[in-house]
Amino acid sequence: MNKQLPNADAPVWLDDTTACIDELAWLTAMSTDPASVPHAIEVVHEIPVYDGNGVRDLTQQGSSSVRNIKALQEEWVRVLLEGAGVIVIRQAIDDIDMLDEVTDVLQQILNDEMQSHPVADHFAAAGSNSRIWNAHEKLCVRSPELFARYNANDVLSLVCRAWLGPAYQITAQVNVVHPGGCAQTCHRDYHLGFQDSKLLREYPAHVHTLSPVLTLQGAIAHTDVPIVSGPTQLLPFSQKLLTGYIDVADEQVREHFLKHYVQLPLSKGDMLFFNPALFHAAGDNNTAEVHRFVNLLQVGSAYGRTLEFLDRARMSIALYPLLQSMMANGDITHRGLVQAVDACAEGYPFPANIDLEPPLNGLAPASQQQLMLKGLEEGWTLDVFADRVRAQQRLKRSY
Ligand SMILES: [Fe+2]
Repeated sequence: MNKQLPNADAPVWLDDTTACIDELAWLTAMSTDPASVPHAIEVVHEIPVYDGNGVRDLTQQGSSSVRNIKALQEEWVRVLLEGAGVIVIRQAIDDIDMLDEVTDVLQQILNDEMQSHPVADHFAAAGSNSRIWNAHEKLCVRSPELFARYNANDVLSLVCRAWLGPAYQITAQVNVVHPGGCAQTCHRDYHLGFQDSKLLREYPAHVHTLSPVLTLQGAIAHTDVPIVSGPTQLLPFSQKLLTGYIDVADEQVREHFLKHYVQLPLSKGDMLFFNPALFHAAGDNNTAEVHRFVNLLQVGSAYGRTLEFLDRARMSIALYPLLQSMMANGDITHRGLVQAVDACAEGYPFPANIDLEPPLNGLAPASQQQLMLKGLEEGWTLDVFADRVRAQQRLKRSY
């Protein structure tokens, strides 16, 4: 019997400094065999396109529904995992009057925020777009009725369940790209897509493969999005590149993206879903009049949670004076100090309140661990540290 583990030769550390451009070129030359996506109504630029009405019909087919829906979900999973990495569903929302009402409420939220505190978008040039961070909660509180009608959607629920299983958690950020708004540089998305390249190398390869299955990336078109208005630029099959979170910052890789990305126009009510490891970027809005209004979804797996809820701010405040005196007496090395802080404070800056917590390095806000180490290294008193750690905690919940 072969007792060797599968993938025994696979790399654990992805610290090679050379980007895998040849592998990316090979992957992104792949094509989608229409026979492999029998539920799709067409394949455009290797991307399978589905009809929302057909999906809704499947849910109405009595006893054969369950089997047929599972087959469709299986097809979606294979595309997102091993295929093009992206699907489009036409008319995923068929109640356009309701969608327009939701757009109006979101626009009111946007207007109110512009008046009270212009919202910074840390991921785009100033003025080129308007953002509503945490649009999901804000819509729910502003109009529970529209929130319910907007989210009572078979297509959304079936895609989320296909990729993440049950107990998923939706977050959403509205992005309105104005005429003249410029394209983003290509990137991957949450989780590892929000880490800098040095930190990425500290996560072993299996975590790089885990990250994409913890989130589903989606977009709901609230307006028609013709090509000239800059629908998302997508590089099919690029989610399969193991080193992609690191390589996406490489100059040659970015050139490859610019030469080979594809775009699909969307109509109001269409949804786009993709593997968060897919290389993508918001496109240029070259129109004079289209305000491209899209609600971006980051749907999280139930499994991005710890077993227990710990009040890590409380723990950090309890430990802080002890670490201070150990430092003063030379009873702890710097490495030991970092290890104690790692065990105590929250190391991950998300979930964040991006309205109020500006990203530190362009991607992620400061974590509780970073704050605690800064306090210890800069000699803050316990009172100052306690104030700041509580303030940081309050920021996450201050609407
Ligand atoms: Fe993105």
